[in-house]
Formats: sequence, structure tokens, C-alpha cells
Amino acid sequence: MELYEKHIFVCINERPADNPKGCCFAKDALSVFQKFRAEITARNLKGKVQATKSGCLASCETGPNIVIYPEGVWYKEVTENDVEEIMDEHIIKGNIVERLRRFPA
Ligand code: FES
Repeated sequence: MELYEKHIFVCINERPADNPKGCCFAKDALSVFQKFRAEITARNLKGKVQATKSGCLASCETGPNIVIYPEGVWYKEVTENDVEEIMDEHIIKGNIVERLRRFPA
């Protein structure tokens, strides 16, 4: 197996509704994950780019959070509507989407 060129981890951690930490799942993170999967398929990038569900990334207040490797760039408050831009700019062109960047600061 070859390594992926890009690996996208999407936090979909779920907590009870009364938990004060909140969670990415409650902020529609599963739709974000599914949109990445659909974009990877539509762009014929399977085997080169992978999207994987992640547990809590310990930044719950800014969720949904994602991390993209090998760069180690974190994005915050990602919505389904942001996925195409992240695919176009970061995954295809290698440009960080500054308006969504959390780390590196
Ligand atoms: S629940 Fe997603 S970062 Fe904690």
C-alpha cells in the first residue's frame, strides 16, 4: 500500500446534548465528512486522497474541526459549503484556506 498524498481527518465526535463541551457531531460534522468523501470520488482521487472520521481533536469550541496531513494544517468551523474550496485550494493547489485556519497560527 502506498501512502496517501493527502489525508483529511474530520472530527465527528458525539457527546450528550447537555454536555457543556459540545461536539462536532452536533454541528453537522458528519455532513462535512460525507462531502469530502463525495468530492474525492467525484474528482477521481481515491487512493491519493483519503478522508477519515476522527475522534475528538480537543478543540471542541471551534468545531467542526478537520486536520490535513502531511501539512498538519487544522481548519475550524468547517461546514459542508467549505469543502469544495478546501478541495480546490488546499488539496489540489496546496494553498491554505486562511479564513478557516486554526493551526498553525
Ligand atoms: S468534539 Fe470535535 S474537537 Fe472535540
